[in-house]
Amino acid sequence: QVKRRADYQPPAFFITNVELTVHLHPHSTRVQSTLHIKRNGTHQHDLVLDGEQLNLVEITIDNQTVDHHKVTDTALIIPSVGDEFILSTVCTIAPDSNKALEGLYLSNGVYCTQCEAEGFRRITYFLDRPDVLATYQVTVHGDKKVLPTLLSNGNPVDKGDNDDGTHWVKWHDPHPKPSYLFALVAGDFDLLTDTYTTMNGKQVALELYVDKGKLDRGQFALDSLKRAMKWDEQVYGLEYDLEIYMVVAVDFFNMGAMENKGLNVFNSKFVLANPATATDEDFFNVESVIAHEYFHNWTGNRVTCRDWFQLSLKEGLTVFRDQQFSADMTSELSNRIKHVRVIREHQFAEDASAMSHPIRPDEVIEMNNFYTVTVYDKGAEVIRMLHTLLGKDGFRAGMDEYFKRHDGQAVTCDDFVSAMQSVTDLNLTHFSKWYSQSGTPEISVTRKREGDKTLITVSQRTPATADQQEKEDLFIPLGFSCIDATGQQYQDRAGKVTNGILLLDQQQITLTYDQQESELIPVVLANFSAPVRIKQSLDSTELLAIFLHANDDFNRWDALQQLYDWCISQYEANQQVDETIWEGLKSALSSEKTNFELLSECLIIPSFETLCQSRTNINVETLNAAREQFVREFAERFEPELLAIYQSISLADYHYDQQDVIARRCKNVVLAHLGRLQQNSELVQQHYTQSDNMTDTLGALKAAQQGHSDPFNALMDSFGERWKSDPLVLDKWFSLHATTEREDILSHLTMLQAHPQFSIENPNRVRALIGSFAFYNTSGFHALDGSGYEYLTDYLINLDSSNPQVAARLVTPLTQWQRFNKHHQHKMKTQLARLLEQEGLSNDVYEKVSKSLAYE
Ligand code: ARG
Ligand code: ZN
Repeated sequence: QVKRRADYQPPAFFITNVELTVHLHPHSTRVQSTLHIKRNGTHQHDLVLDGEQLNLVEITIDNQTVDHHKVTDTALIIPSVGDEFILSTVCTIAPDSNKALEGLYLSNGVYCTQCEAEGFRRITYFLDRPDVLATYQVTVHGDKKVLPTLLSNGNPVDKGDNDDGTHWVKWHDPHPKPSYLFALVAGDFDLLTDTYTTMNGKQVALELYVDKGKLDRGQFALDSLKRAMKWDEQVYGLEYDLEIYMVVAVDFFNMGAMENKGLNVFNSKFVLANPATATDEDFFNVESVIAHEYFHNWTGNRVTCRDWFQLSLKEGLTVFRDQQFSADMTSELSNRIKHVRVIREHQFAEDASAMSHPIRPDEVIEMNNFYTVTVYDKGAEVIRMLHTLLGKDGFRAGMDEYFKRHDGQAVTCDDFVSAMQSVTDLNLTHFSKWYSQSGTPEISVTRKREGDKTLITVSQRTPATADQQEKEDLFIPLGFSCIDATGQQYQDRAGKVTNGILLLDQQQITLTYDQQESELIPVVLANFSAPVRIKQSLDSTELLAIFLHANDDFNRWDALQQLYDWCISQYEANQQVDETIWEGLKSALSSEKTNFELLSECLIIPSFETLCQSRTNINVETLNAAREQFVREFAERFEPELLAIYQSISLADYHYDQQDVIARRCKNVVLAHLGRLQQNSELVQQHYTQSDNMTDTLGALKAAQQGHSDPFNALMDSFGERWKSDPLVLDKWFSLHATTEREDILSHLTMLQAHPQFSIENPNRVRALIGSFAFYNTSGFHALDGSGYEYLTDYLINLDSSNPQVAARLVTPLTQWQRFNKHHQHKMKTQLARLLEQEGLSNDVYEKVSKSLAYE
C-alpha cells in the first residue's frame, strides 16, 4: 500500500477534454462522463482508470458498447484500447450517505464536492492524478425549487429548464486543470455580489454564497477577497484569469477551504464573520484563508504539482504568500510570532514523532495524512529562507521566471528551485537539502575568551528522525548579532555576518570578536530566520539584556519566553525563582507598558505544548503544576501593574481595525492573568456584561475559566443559552467546556456529546469538543489512570468508520507519546494498540497508528 516518490511514472494516457452531465439526487446522482483520451507514447498498456464507490451503469468507446472491461474496488480496467478515443461512462453515486466528505456529498442540504487529493475518483472513473490536465465542460441538473443555484468551475455558458421541474446550467472552464480542482455546488443560498477591476481593466464578477439568513456575515470575506486580488497584482504582478470568482460557504467540511478553479469551497468558519459572532482572530483567519485560496489560483492552479509528493510546491509557497499578505494587512511582529508558535508547538513535535517527514515526503500510504504542518508551515519557512537569501527583488525575479517557465504545467519542487537558481549567483544545490531532509536542526552557540578576543562558535546537528537515520549539514541563514550587557553592538573581525545574517553552510563556523572587557551575548535567529532549535546557555541576566537591548523584536520576545521557561523549570525542580528575577521581569515589562503589541505577546506564558519542546521524559503532573504555580505567582505579584494596564485601555465601539485589535488583545491577555485571582471575579463579570463584541465576550469567558467554577459556570450557561442556535458560536462554547480542568471532565464530555447541536457528522463540532479536549485539556487528557486516552480512542473507533480523515487528525496527540515519561507512554501505546486491532480500520488511521507503534 506504500507509494514512493522514487516510483513516479508519467501517465500512460492523457485525458484532454472532459464533458460531465450530472443529475443530482440524494441517493442516486447520475454522472455521465465523456472523456477524450490519448495514449502517451507507444506502449500497449491497458487503460486503468481510478474509481471508488461508483456504480457503473453504462460504458462505450467511440459509441461502441464495451464488454471486455474489468471493475475492481478501486479501478476500471479496459484492455486493448486504441491510441485516441472517446470513452463514455454513466455511474451513479450516493451523496447523502457520503459521511467521509470526500467526493460529492450533502452538507445541510447543499451539494458540494471536495476532490483534493483523490476525491474525484468518487465522482467518476478518471486518471485521478495531478499531472493529467484537461478542460472541463459541466452541465448540472437539479430540482429548480430545492436547488435554485447550480455551480461548477469556470464561466456559465448556458442554462435551461426541463419538463420535469428540474433545471440545468452549463459551465465551461477554459483553463486545463487536474481533477483535484474540479468542483460542483448546488443549493439554495443567499448571494452577495461585487465586482473587481483588474490591473489591466478586466471586470471580474465576485459572488459569495452563504446559508440563507447569513448575508450580514459575508461582507468582510468579500472585502478580503478584493484586498487579496489587489495585493497579488501589486506584489507579484499576478492577475485573475476568469470572468467570475465564486466562494461558497458550507457547514460540513474536513479542512479550512479548497481552491477549486473559480469556485472555492470554504468551511463556513472561514467566511462568516460579524462583530457579534466572530472574534478578532476569526476575522484575521477569514482574511488569511480567503487570501490563501485566492493565491492558489497562480501557485497551485496555473502551475500545479506533478505528483502528490510535491504538495509543498503549492502549499508551502501559498502559505508563505498568505503570511506576507497578512503581515501587510495587519502587523509584522504578531504575525511572525504566530507562525513561530505553530512551528515550535506543532511542527517540531511532528519531527520528533513517528510521522516525521521532509517537506517533500518520500513515502505515503494515505495522501490525506500529508496535509501537515511540515508540508505547509515548514514548507513556508523554506520559501521564506529563499526570500531572505535572494532578497525581495531577487525573489520576485525568481517567481516571474517560475511562471514564465511553467505556466500551464504540472511540475516539481526541483523545478521551482531551478527557476530560483536562474536568477541568483548563490548556489542553491546545498540549500535544496531542505526539501529532502526531515527533522529539526539544532544550532549550538558557545563562547570562549582567548587572550584579547572572544570566539563564538556556531555549529549545527540534526538528530536522527523516525524516517531517516543519517543527516547531513544544511545551508542555514541564521539571524545573528552580538551585544554586551549594556546593549552595545559588536562586529566580528572577518565580517562573516552580513546584513545581520550568518550563512551557516557547514558543520560549524567560528566568529572572532575583538573584545575582552565585557562578556559578549550572541543574539541568534532574528525574526526566526530558519526553522531550527537554538541550544545556548544564557543566564537570566543575559536574557533580560537581550530583551532590553536587542534590535529585533522577535529576539526580544523570544528571550523573555526562554526566561519564563527557565523559571518554570525551577518550580519543576522544587526550587524558587529569585527575587531579582521577578524584579527584572517587572521592570522589563513595565518598560514596554504602552507598546501593546509587544507587551501582549510578552505577557503570554509559554503553553504546555511549547514547554514540552524543551523537555524530555515529561512528568505531566509536575510540569503542569509548575506552570500553574508560575502563572499564579506572576498574576499575584504583578496584579497592580496588570490592573493599571487594563484600566489604561479603553475602546469605543467595536471596529476590526489594527490599532483596536492590538489594544483589545492586550486587554484580554491581561484579564486572563487577573482572572486567576478570586478577587477579580467581578472585573471579569463586568468585562463580560459590558462587551459589545465576541472578542471581549470570549476574553471574559477564558479569564473566568482560569479562575475555576465561579463565575465561570454561570457565564457559560448564559452564553450557551444566548447562542444555542448559532453553530459557529456554539463551537466556541463546546471548546471552552472541553478545555476546562475539572475532575468529572469525561462525564461532562459525554453529556455534551448528547447536546442537540452536537453531531459526529460535522467536523467543526467534533474538533471543537473532542479535538480541544485531546489537544489542549492537559490534565484531563493526560489523566494518570489513562482514562483520557481511552476516551479519545473510543471516540476515534466510532468516528473512523464514517470520517477517516478527521479521525486521523485527532489521533495525533496519542501518537506523540515519545515526549512523556514511561507511565504515560505505556498508557498511550495501550490505546494505540487497541485502535490497530479494529477491524476495517481506515488507511488514514492505520498509517499513523502503525508507524507510531513501530517507532522506538
Ligand atoms: N488545498 C487546500 C488548501 O490548503 C486543502 C485541501 C486539503 N485536502 C485534504 N484532503 N486534506 O487550501
Ligand atoms: Zn493551500
